[in-house]
Amino acid sequence: MCGIVGYIGNKEAYPILIKGLHRLEYRGYDSAGVALISEDGDLKIYKSRGKVAELERIMQSKDTGGHVGIAHTRWATHGEPNDINAHPHYSESRNLAIIHNGIIENYALLKEALQANGYTFKSDTDSEVIVQLIEYIQNTNRCSLPEAVRRALRELVGAYAIAIIEKGNKTRIIAARKSSPLVVGIGQGEFFLASDATPIVEHTDKVVYLNNDEIADISLDHGLRIFDIDNNESDIDIKQLQLSISELEKGGYPHFMLKEIFEQPKTITDAIRGRVNVEMTNVVLSGVIDNKEIFINAKRIIIVACGTSWHAGLIGEYLIEDMCRIPVEVEYASEFRYRNPVINKGDIVIAISQSGETADTLAAVELAKSKGAFIFGICNVVGSSIARATDSGAYIHVGPEIGVASTKAFTGQVTVLMMLALTLGHHKGTISQEFYLDKIKHLCQLSEQIADILQLDNQIADLAKIFTYARNFLYLGRGYNYPAALEGALKLKEISYIHAEGYPIAEMKHGPIALIDSEMPTVVIATTDKIYEKTISNIQEIKARGGKIIAIINPDDNIVRKIADYIIEIPRTCEHLSPVLASVPLQLLAYYIAVYKGRDVDRPRNLAKSVTVE
Ligand code: M6R
Repeated sequence: MCGIVGYIGNKEAYPILIKGLHRLEYRGYDSAGVALISEDGDLKIYKSRGKVAELERIMQSKDTGGHVGIAHTRWATHGEPNDINAHPHYSESRNLAIIHNGIIENYALLKEALQANGYTFKSDTDSEVIVQLIEYIQNTNRCSLPEAVRRALRELVGAYAIAIIEKGNKTRIIAARKSSPLVVGIGQGEFFLASDATPIVEHTDKVVYLNNDEIADISLDHGLRIFDIDNNESDIDIKQLQLSISELEKGGYPHFMLKEIFEQPKTITDAIRGRVNVEMTNVVLSGVIDNKEIFINAKRIIIVACGTSWHAGLIGEYLIEDMCRIPVEVEYASEFRYRNPVINKGDIVIAISQSGETADTLAAVELAKSKGAFIFGICNVVGSSIARATDSGAYIHVGPEIGVASTKAFTGQVTVLMMLALTLGHHKGTISQEFYLDKIKHLCQLSEQIADILQLDNQIADLAKIFTYARNFLYLGRGYNYPAALEGALKLKEISYIHAEGYPIAEMKHGPIALIDSEMPTVVIATTDKIYEKTISNIQEIKARGGKIIAIINPDDNIVRKIADYIIEIPRTCEHLSPVLASVPLQLLAYYIAVYKGRDVDRPRNLAKSVTVE
C-alpha cells in the first residue's frame, strides 16, 4: 500500500517521478504528491487529494524543474485522504521532505515528545513524525542526514519504506526500509528508487533490493552505499531485472483487468513451461524435488495466504490431501500470525502471495520460520519479500498483475499447486501412474480451454448487462468448485461494490436459502462431476423459491441447462482443475457488471493491490 518513487541524476526528475507514480498507482490512489529540489536548491512540495492524474493537472502550472525528487501515491491509513495528509511531508523548518509507505505504530508517543519540544504537526499522519524526528535528531546532535536517519529509525516501531531529500542538497537521497519493499535502480550517473521495479525498468535493468533495516545513502558524489541500522556497511548485490515494459501497459485493452483475463491462455502455458515435459509424461516442480525428503516426510502442511491467494490455498488443500495424503490446513495469514498456532519441526508452511509483499503473509512466514517449519513460497513477483524469506518455492510466472482484482495470478497459483501435488504424489507413491498421466494431460489442455472460454466474452457481457440492477449475489459451488465460488463472489464485490457471498451449495439450506427471492441472482458452478446430481437438487430448491440461476455447465450437461435461467458453457476438465476454468467466466461477469456500473475497475475504491500494512 502506497507507492514511493525517487530520482537523482542528470535528467529532469519530474517526468520520471510522475510516470513512476502512474506505474505504482495500483498500490494506492487516495492522494499523490511530489517533492523537488530546484536548480537553486529550494525544496518544494506539491500534493493533492485524488489520483495521480489530479496531481499532474495541478503541476501544469507549477515549476517542475530539478534533477532530484521524490514522489508518493497514497493508500490512507492514518488521517483521511485529503491534501494535507498527502505525502511528501516537510519537517518543521521545511528543510527536509519525506515519503513513507508503512505504518509507524508508536507515532503517537513520538509526536507528543516532539510537540513538547516545540514541533508543530500539519497532518494527521504517522509519517510526519518520522521527518520531524529526523530533523530533531539532526539539530540536537549536529549530525549528518544519514546519521540522523539511522538514529531516528532506531526509535521507530512499525513498518516503513522511506525516502528523504534535503533543501540545498542536489546530490543526495536517503532511503530505508523495514517490512515495506524498496528497490534502488542503478543507471549511468543516475539512481532510481521505487516500491517495486515497475517505475525503474524503462531506465535500467540493474537493481538492488534493500533488505530489512537497511539504509541506502544514494549520492551523485560517492554512488550507492548501504548500511544496516548499526552502521555496518553492506555489500551491494546488483540483480538483473527480468521484466519488459510491454507487460506494464494495457496493450489496447480498456483496463488492465481485462488484459490480464485475456492473457490467461499464455500465462497458464508460462506457468507450466519447463515443468511438464513435451511428451506430457512428467511434471517436475524443482522446489519440491530439491527438498524431496522434507516433502515426503511432512507430517502436516499449513497454507497461509490472504484474499484470492487464500482461495487458491483452499484448492491446494483439496489437491494435496487427495493426491499426497498429507493433512493440510489453510489459514488466513492475518489470523495465523496472532493466534499462537502449533507449528512443529516437521511441518511445511506454504505461503501463497501474488505480490510477495502482503504484510500479514510475510509475518506468518516469519512466525513459522522462527518455530522451525520449512517454508515454501508460491509467489508471482520475482525477488519479492516473501519469495526471499522462504526456504524454497515456485514462481507462478504469470507476469505483472496490475489490476487490483487478481485474475491470472489465481489461475496461475492453482496451476502451480496442481503441479506441486502431482510432483509430490508421484514421488510419494500416493497416486497411480494412470492418474498421474491423465492429470498431466488435463493440465496441458487448460490453456486452449481457457482460450475457448474467452470466446464467450460477448455473451457474458450481455448477461452482465441484465444483472447490473442486482444489490446482492450468491455464488455456489461444491468440492473443488466451492473455492471458485468464493473467488467469483470476491471478484464481483471488490470491483462492482455489489454485495456477494460465496457458499458451498449444500450449506444453502442451513441459512442462506432464506435470502432467495426473485431479486437475488445465484451463480451456480454445476459442472458434470461426481456431485452433479446433488447440485441439481440444490438448484431445484433455489428455483422453487423464485431465485434466478446463472449456471456454469459443461457441454455434456442435459439437465441444468433446462432448469437454469442463464447458462455459460465451459469445456470439461478433471474436477481438480475445474476451478481454473470456472473462475474465468466469473472474472468476465464481474468485470462487465463493474464496467456497466461505471466503476473504476482497475482501481476500485478503498483498495490497493499490495496490502503491505496490517
Ligand atoms: O499479493 P497477495 O496475493 O498476497 O494479495 C492477497 C490479497 O490482498 C489479494 O488477493 C486481494 O484479495 C485481491 N484484491 C483479490 O482480487
